[in-house]
Amino acid sequence: LAAEKGGYEHFMLKEIHEQPRAIRDTLSGRISEDGQRVVLKELNWTTEQAASIERIHIVACGTSWHAGLVGKAAIEKLTRIPVDVEIASEYRYRDPIVPDNTLIIVISQSGETADTLAALRESKQRGARVLAITNVLGSSANREADYTMITMAGPEIAVASTKAYTTQVVVLYLFACYLAQQRGSIGASQVPEILQALKGLPELAERVLETAPSLRQFAEKYKDKEDAFFIGRGVDYAVALEGSLKLKEISYIHAEAYAAGELKHGTLALITEGIPVIALVTQDDLYEKTVSNIVEVKARDAYVLTLAWQGDGEIGKYADEVITVPRTMPFLAPVLSVIPLQLLAYYASVARGNDVDKPRNLAKSVTVE
Ligand code: G6P
Repeated sequence: LAAEKGGYEHFMLKEIHEQPRAIRDTLSGRISEDGQRVVLKELNWTTEQAASIERIHIVACGTSWHAGLVGKAAIEKLTRIPVDVEIASEYRYRDPIVPDNTLIIVISQSGETADTLAALRESKQRGARVLAITNVLGSSANREADYTMITMAGPEIAVASTKAYTTQVVVLYLFACYLAQQRGSIGASQVPEILQALKGLPELAERVLETAPSLRQFAEKYKDKEDAFFIGRGVDYAVALEGSLKLKEISYIHAEAYAAGELKHGTLALITEGIPVIALVTQDDLYEKTVSNIVEVKARDAYVLTLAWQGDGEIGKYADEVITVPRTMPFLAPVLSVIPLQLLAYYASVARGNDVDKPRNLAKSVTVE
């Protein structure tokens, strides 16, 4: 077993460190040699096929649902196709409206999650085309979908998903670029620049892994806290949701994620002295707004850890601690900003003496309802 963990103490830590490789493998073969175009042989859509899509529903559970939230932002930004993201267990039972020319994207690491498969079948029955994004070739989701895109994360053993998430997000960026390119959408001209930035992510992710010692320190200092809050706006909010889920799953610390602007509508009442608040501030156009929310929680004596871009000389004035990630295009930030949050959850779990890879009450894949 020790050998399988490749020298790491837990599968989760190994899988966190595999992310640069996993991202590279997921990009590999999907970008033209001149770097100008996305090449998705697994779809091979004609202009007409791409142009006929009028709306998209993304359906998934857990961490895969969080990846879907990032995918929505990317697809809408580049194509202006309206995207809804829904939890599979809700979608399957709510008599969803699936008009003609709807594409359903199901996202599932395992491709075997019962609720996600049920949602897939439900939408197929209603006439939708289905694209499955999974990490397991030959899974049920792949067999039943019309199209498949595989994440090249490799087997994920730890119950808490890490490299599956980052590679799902990368696949969604590629898909968004592909759709924009094939339709000639508003974002088509940005595709080469985005592809260049995507190719840079493995190396940047490598550098983000160097934040581990700081997060270990933070986790050890706060391991006995009962609550933590994650805030952010835009895709930072989507990543906040994933960061809080990671912390809950393996450290058992009660954690909540809030869209930073929503704090004042209730959650601010829970912010008291010494409560850890993790604030993500990677979205340049929302920077001032999120800073004003940080000031609000600081005024209630929260202990604020911010996650910001390297070179942000301002944020330290408002925060107790700053963790930085190297700069990329802001809408690609989730691939990098999630890594410190994975490390935080990991070290909090270790510090509390929990079974990191097999947290209580949870299963790697939920194949029964
Ligand atoms: C379980 C796992 C989660 C995962 C979710 C969806 O709850 O513990 O880590 O995100 O299922 O799994 P899927 O395989 O469909 O992505």
